[in-house]
Amino acid sequence: MKKLFQILSLALGICLFTACEDHNNEVLQPEEAVMQDGEYEGLGEGRSGMIKVAIVVKNHIITAIRILSQSESVFAQPAEQQIMDAVLEMQTTEGVDAVSGATLTSNGMLTAIGMAIDAAKGVQKEDVTYSDTSCDIVVVGAGGAGLSAAVQAASMGAHVIVLEKQGIIGGNTNYATGGLNAAETSVQKSLGIQDSKQSHFDDTMKGGHYLNDVSLVTILVEKAAEAVDWLISLGADMSNVGKMAGSSQKRTHRPNGGAAIGPHLVSILNKAVQAENISIRTRNMVTALTEQNGKVTGVKVSTSSGTYSIQAKAVILATGGFGANLSMIGQYRPELQTFKTSNHGGATGDAFAWVTPLQAELVQMDQIQIHPTGEKGSHLLITEAVRGNGAILVNREGLRFANEMWTRDKLSEAILEQTDKSVFIVFDQSVRKSLSTIENYAQQGLLTTANTPAELAKALKLPVDAFVNTIETYQVYQATGEDLDFHREAEEMLFPLNEAPYYAIEVEPVIHHTMGGIKINTKAEVITRAGNAIPGLYAAGEVTGGVHGGNRLGGNAVADIVVFGKLAGTSAARSIGLE
Ligand code: FUM
Repeated sequence: MKKLFQILSLALGICLFTACEDHNNEVLQPEEAVMQDGEYEGLGEGRSGMIKVAIVVKNHIITAIRILSQSESVFAQPAEQQIMDAVLEMQTTEGVDAVSGATLTSNGMLTAIGMAIDAAKGVQKEDVTYSDTSCDIVVVGAGGAGLSAAVQAASMGAHVIVLEKQGIIGGNTNYATGGLNAAETSVQKSLGIQDSKQSHFDDTMKGGHYLNDVSLVTILVEKAAEAVDWLISLGADMSNVGKMAGSSQKRTHRPNGGAAIGPHLVSILNKAVQAENISIRTRNMVTALTEQNGKVTGVKVSTSSGTYSIQAKAVILATGGFGANLSMIGQYRPELQTFKTSNHGGATGDAFAWVTPLQAELVQMDQIQIHPTGEKGSHLLITEAVRGNGAILVNREGLRFANEMWTRDKLSEAILEQTDKSVFIVFDQSVRKSLSTIENYAQQGLLTTANTPAELAKALKLPVDAFVNTIETYQVYQATGEDLDFHREAEEMLFPLNEAPYYAIEVEPVIHHTMGGIKINTKAEVITRAGNAIPGLYAAGEVTGGVHGGNRLGGNAVADIVVFGKLAGTSAARSIGLE
């Protein structure tokens, strides 16, 4: 029975992440294969969205299991711990029972850990062999933009195939935490938040140093509220609204309790993909676009079992940016080549080579965003929402050195001027309670914890008197609503930081978003250097350039991928006569 459960849950996991491929993959390696040393990741669907775990294998034994991201409630944590303890003891998911009262969370954990164990054993899934075929619309990339485009086009009646080079869907969206920016939304109204699209527009332009494409920013802010309602209609929870750096109002929408937005959206969009019967072909890498008389007619695809072509009436590029391609980063910004990246490994900018022969225009390729708070030494992002919910930043001298709500470029620059180019994000229990994403950091062992500010300073090896004075001074500023040092807004100093325990994470700037990319117009059509739309070719999300100008505001990327993903899906479907 337990064996059956394991097989079923693994099958469920594979089905989820390949979105129920039209042919089932076969397991080639025997289950008894030995785990190879290293760190392996796996994904599974819990009660509230995707759970991502990593296992560490040493001497062929699992020595640690960490949750990398999840949206489960804090009440599910004991169950997650129980599952991890049981797997550590038994060295397999086989025979580990779901925890009663937390079955969905348990199953998600078991699927994710099972997938990581398979990876450690080198278990390969045989790729399906595809032959040349045709469809209405090919979407390249199964991140948030691609999934939104696919769902939208299919809902208008198009036959859509999604191609994804990675083994799992979601792309960078799997890692998105902060939320989705939108103004004048139904959710804001129900929470009594006064906001306007004009204010969202002004903030976005100001944040982007007015280098943004005004027509694209107009689309972004005009259609973001509609995108929120669309996601809610698909089952998304967007009920928590917070404030991110550079936003004048609370407009960053995320699930209840401040859980991570990305895994939740991928889960919701994947369900919609399945409901629309869209085929997603993972581990299918596009190598080129095909074209006839200047019109894009499809794609060439490579898999481990061969190559094939798809003829399509329209192609939507949703391949993401190049934040994980350090040689491309170095080409445009040599000084950033040594930085770590918060991007998933697939963000390598492949599409730029495909569109070059079509004379597509690439804009602002050197506009590369550094996010101020990557966990020191790893690629893990400590979401801006932690600062948005009241955390402060303290340097090695125990001092605040900046307004923590400065935009990312300015704050990153300030951090890079500090000793060792890294600082500490510091908060208390009240901030932790306000944002459930922080529980992920706790589970991954990222938090240094102490009962008093003095003890925290000692644990961090900071000058105690200076650090305690920094906290006490901030408490006065918070109480009076006036930050005499860095002028942080009163409503951005949410808590007095006086509720023990106290926490800190060491952070440093990391490459986060490539804001340049393929030029598109307001229909998401790809534009040539001569200013013409390329027939049959659309693009959406981080592969495009111009929406965010010189600096993207936190929360605007998730808005971008859903708004422009939907728009590309609509335009492509309309171009073939669907309404
Ligand atoms: O800090 C963050 O949560 C990042 C959000 C974003 O890049 O939009």
